[in-house]
Amino acid sequence: MRFYLTTAIDYVNNRPHLGNAYEKITADVIARYKRLSGFDTHFLMGNDEHSQNVYKRAHERGLEPLEYCDQMEREFRAVWTQLDISFDDFIRTTEPRHKAAVQRLAQRCFDKGDIYEGQYEGWYCVSCEAFKQERDLVGGACPLHATQTPEWIREKNYFFRLSKYRDALLEHFHAHPTFLQPEARRNELLRLLEGGLEDISVSRAGQSWGIPLPFAPDNTVYVWFDALINYAAAVGYGTDPSRFDACWPADLHVVGKDITRFHAVVWPAMLMSAGIALPAQVYGHGWVNFGGQRMSKSLGTSLDPTDVAHRFGPDPLRLYLVKEIAYGGDGDFTWERYEERYNVDLANNLGNLVSRLAAMAEKYRGSRLVAAGGGGRLAQVADAALARYRVSMDGFALHDGAAAAFQIVDASNEFIAETAPWALAKQAGDAGRLDEVLFEVAEAVRIAAVLLRPIMPGSAAEILRRVGETTMPDALRLDQDGAWRGTDVRHITKGAPLWPRVEASKSNDVNVAGATKRPSQKMEMSVEETPAGTLGTPGTPGAPAVPATTPAEDSRISYEDFMRVELRVAKVLTAEAVPKSKKLLKVTVDAGTEHRTIVAGIAGAYQPEQLVGRTVVIVANLRSAKLMGVESQGMVLAAGPEGQPPTLIACDPSIPPGTRVR
Ligand code: MSP
Repeated sequence: MRFYLTTAIDYVNNRPHLGNAYEKITADVIARYKRLSGFDTHFLMGNDEHSQNVYKRAHERGLEPLEYCDQMEREFRAVWTQLDISFDDFIRTTEPRHKAAVQRLAQRCFDKGDIYEGQYEGWYCVSCEAFKQERDLVGGACPLHATQTPEWIREKNYFFRLSKYRDALLEHFHAHPTFLQPEARRNELLRLLEGGLEDISVSRAGQSWGIPLPFAPDNTVYVWFDALINYAAAVGYGTDPSRFDACWPADLHVVGKDITRFHAVVWPAMLMSAGIALPAQVYGHGWVNFGGQRMSKSLGTSLDPTDVAHRFGPDPLRLYLVKEIAYGGDGDFTWERYEERYNVDLANNLGNLVSRLAAMAEKYRGSRLVAAGGGGRLAQVADAALARYRVSMDGFALHDGAAAAFQIVDASNEFIAETAPWALAKQAGDAGRLDEVLFEVAEAVRIAAVLLRPIMPGSAAEILRRVGETTMPDALRLDQDGAWRGTDVRHITKGAPLWPRVEASKSNDVNVAGATKRPSQKMEMSVEETPAGTLGTPGTPGAPAVPATTPAEDSRISYEDFMRVELRVAKVLTAEAVPKSKKLLKVTVDAGTEHRTIVAGIAGAYQPEQLVGRTVVIVANLRSAKLMGVESQGMVLAAGPEGQPPTLIACDPSIPPGTRVR
């Protein structure tokens, strides 16, 4: 039984944010669940490198595009490793295997008569790397990239006959009702298909960064046509036919809702044209916002997943994203909610359960527990939870799979409270019952950890070690290891608390400096009086231990902190006074990829006409604000002695607009 799954490949013009990480984490949970279920799983991820933004970013950094992409590959891999993402292969679109596949597939479509030469005239959003129709824009702007003005382009393009495949696609959707999930996405695209499809451009003129069309090498393959082919390229299309035959079709493409159309309409049509089988399923997940706002570098609302993983380690983050967001829908991350869930689910609930079990096993049975029968109430709970878990995970209701595992944890805590092992231990006649109770809890915790293994791999492995599971974590199989074991001897190991309780930091800032404070702890209490989450000393298996000291009072920031402020060179195009203001001028600037209006407090030093043509430095990722009724999209840097009007920070006029200040 094989299972080949993929995620979207990321643009590398920025480091990944928490939204990109959400996709990789949830796909990893699916991959790990499939392995746990006995599938021979192949999990592909990668980077999408042939985008205009990537090319531009490389030049801003003074690097050759490939050199820049090499650096970004290292950064991306480091983030994914930190989040414990278990990908088997990582493809880059600049690799020879990818180029070979793209050229082969493009040639197949051309030979079939599905690619023809034409003229494109219309809008293009560089951030989406997508051709836009008038109806896709809101107030003239791309709804996903409101601060960027779409470009009007007119160029010779090669077109793909997407319209020709509309009926075949509709048929495929109807014959395979689960081809696109969740249902809301499927319905959305069914409506789109019913409305008819237009042919799409598959090449760009005058772009050197990309793969040449094999039949017209002066033209570069459009980045989306290029990128989609990675899924076939990675398993040998165009380079290794026998491997491709063995691995294709893919079982599942996990992608975000914004790009589902490319995967469930364009990609299948390309495959039909080239005579290749279609992937079995596409899953279009929802988006994660940060504090209710769309995550965006340019809007300054982006959150670095490594900052979040530093707080408690990767597993609490993975659990939060999987358990708190119904898969398929949108969700939100705030530091407050994250800390709250950490305390409730991990410190108080699961962590405390593991600590109490180990403490009681040691105190009453020298850490050796012997099964004394078939299992009582917890065995039934575990059976029911396993059944719910399978159905949920098979149907990609990952949040419900997590809830099923926690059903066992909750029931175990209730069971301890009701059976009161400390009271049983006081009566010699209750010794048999105490054996049963302790073993039952240990077995329930073991099964909960097996179920949590795909979601919290490091922590689950540590819990399994502590409850005496002898099978290596990677060798666990749901069929045998998820079932109740009624006859066994268990050696329980005590350890530091997995998740020490923290005091809420009440901060929703991206900066997590305050988050490294050591949480308050109580130590060495007796088993009975142990309140939730307070036993022992800090230290976490999957998560790095919380530092024992507050960082020194040092207000200096790291280079990464500095790079969060996006300073860019811009050229003033127009300037005018702001009515009724002595200090403010309204300027429009060319910021490289867009024009912006900025209100600047520099009227004391300049007449508006003196500014036109000046090269200035702006803060490009400042949230928009209204000043004297005018919306300002950024800030112009200026300085002046106390009490005197500020003058512009000088900038060499030869530096092109859009260049990043570093
Ligand atoms: N390069 C294309 C994908 C090509 S796949 C053949 C691309 N890259 S991306 O970097 O912009 O996005 C990568 C993935 O991250 C996409 O699936 C996208 O939907 C997802 N997400 C981007 N922002 C997100 C959130 N805020 N939340 C969840 N997923 C998000 O598109």
